[in-house]
Amino acid sequence: MIKPPGFDKVEHRYTWLHAFRRRQKRRPTRLQVSLMRFEGSSTYVTTDDLRLAVNAAITLQRPLLIKGEPGTGKTMLAEEVARAVGMPLLQWHIKSTTKAQQGLYEYDAVSRLRDSQLGDQRVQDIANYIVKGVLWQAFESPVPMVLLIDEIDKADIEFPNDLLRELDRMEFYVYETHELIRARHRPLVVITSNNEKELPDAFLRRCFFHYIKFPDRDTMSQIVDVHYPQLKRDLLKEALDSFYQVRELPGLKKKPSTSELLDWLKLLLAEDIPPEALRGTDHKSVIPPLHGALLKNEQDVHLFERLAYMARHNR
Ligand SMILES: Nc1ncnc2c1ncn2[C@@H]1O[C@H](COP(=O)(O)OP(=O)(O)OP(=O)(O)O)[C@@H](O)[C@H]1O
Ligand SMILES: [Mg+2]
Repeated sequence: MIKPPGFDKVEHRYTWLHAFRRRQKRRPTRLQVSLMRFEGSSTYVTTDDLRLAVNAAITLQRPLLIKGEPGTGKTMLAEEVARAVGMPLLQWHIKSTTKAQQGLYEYDAVSRLRDSQLGDQRVQDIANYIVKGVLWQAFESPVPMVLLIDEIDKADIEFPNDLLRELDRMEFYVYETHELIRARHRPLVVITSNNEKELPDAFLRRCFFHYIKFPDRDTMSQIVDVHYPQLKRDLLKEALDSFYQVRELPGLKKKPSTSELLDWLKLLLAEDIPPEALRGTDHKSVIPPLHGALLKNEQDVHLFERLAYMARHNR
């Protein structure tokens, strides 16, 4: 088959962007970033509203704030967007101890003290001890980047407020060296949150917001297809029936999510569990085999066992 220029073997799609990039043979410039469109990818299932949200953030040049249940593909979205638009990805994984300043730069006083004791001449210049953070790296990059700020809700409440100016104006001041660092290209910022803490209004104002709804059955089948294209249809049907039944169980403390379903399917395949072994859950009479991949605490397992017992004795 003769393929047109720009036909991408991985994506199986031909977009103007592929053709354009092939012709240009270089990374996109600032103007090109605002013209980019995210069309999804062959390894990540996107819904229309998620595609719209990504493209809205690109057009507005505002951070994209993504919320959703754990395991619904928030982190993976940033990786896929970077791959699809051909921009390098910088990741900043936030912990409870992370400070906004660490994303800009840190002054390494310990190394400077050690060097001064060793008589190293580098101590004369404080710039030798400024360690660049991810934002600085993204700002000075010669090509536009995708910057993922992952799980922003893990940090303390001041963290988002401390980044307002940097994310808005795309600049910050280094007091030690009296330098103003300005972004050469505005990075495409993707921020994820699991909703453990509320984010301040001033921060929200600066973002484009999208909530990844839990995938419906059709979308979930597509996600499973991406990961296990060889999965037999009857096993998929039974597994999805059981999975959504577990999720809909009233009183469940922790609902299983996409990544848990994928783990469970992997186990079902590895153990060669037949579809019939799952069928009993239709009548709530058996607990799904290998349920440890789906139910993550003993209360939920007990709840399921009680329901299975009642279902068996009411029949
Ligand atoms: N839309 C999707 N298409 C393909 N795979 C998906 C999709 N959504 C989730 N997955 C799968 O689920 C796994 C979990 O995704 P990811 O780690 O991005 O979730 P998350 O929302 O960031 O979770 P957490 O909040 O726990 O960090 C991924 O490794 C991927 O295999
Ligand atoms: Mg994540």
